[in-house]
Amino acid sequence: MDDRSNPGSKTRRVDVDWLRVFATYLLFPFHAAMVFNPAPFYHVRNADLSMGMLTFAGFVTLCMDSLPLSREERGAGIRYQWISALKLAQLGIDRRFQGSGLGRWVVGFVVDFATELSLRVGCRYVTLDAQPDLVSWYSAQGFRRNLLHQQQRMDEAIRHRRDPANTAVSMRFDIREHAG
Ligand SMILES: CC(C)(COP(=O)(O)OP(=O)(O)OC[C@H]1O[C@@H](n2cnc3c(N)ncnc32)[C@H](O)[C@@H]1OP(=O)(O)O)[C@@H](O)C(=O)NCCC(=O)NCCS
Repeated sequence: MDDRSNPGSKTRRVDVDWLRVFATYLLFPFHAAMVFNPAPFYHVRNADLSMGMLTFAGFVTLCMDSLPLSREERGAGIRYQWISALKLAQLGIDRRFQGSGLGRWVVGFVVDFATELSLRVGCRYVTLDAQPDLVSWYSAQGFRRNLLHQQQRMDEAIRHRRDPANTAVSMRFDIREHAG
């Protein structure tokens, strides 16, 4: 007899069996989809990858930006003080995937995207506001500190009685320099 209202019943739940069968079959589309996942820990990769596959592993947001650079920082080749850039606004990797190289991969993806963009519109840098403890992580990926911009931020923090030590660190990646 099928007694579903009694949890102690020994009657086999055929509907649960079918749920198991369905879940097992889900593994086929899941593993087929992983071929398009850009995350570094999947071994088989298609030539075209989809950022959509990263939906559950992390996120990144981008916006257009402009950056003030002192004469010393921008060098002789750039005449303007304000230079256009693409900003890596927010970056987050799910805790379960942290430490596997995914964060670095996403930063590289953004740099490649900005490089492609710079062939169509004026865009010299990738900018970001780094948490102070992540400055060396970004530096290892080719980012450097924006001195003039940071000074302006510090001045503003002091003016508004905020602790300058908590101020995010303004950094940039020079697309042209790295494109060779
Ligand atoms: C920072 C973050 C994006 C890195 O992503 P990830 O996939 O873990 O990074 P990777 O695997 O590519 O690199 C791991 C390295 O980053 C270092 N790292 C990660 N978070 C760090 C932190 N808060 N401070 C210092 N180092 C950090 C790790 O120690 C590790 O160093 P190692 O390569 O010497 O072992 C991720 O930890 C995260 O989402 N953090 C919370 C949100 C955040 O801080 N966003 C950035 C705001 S600027």
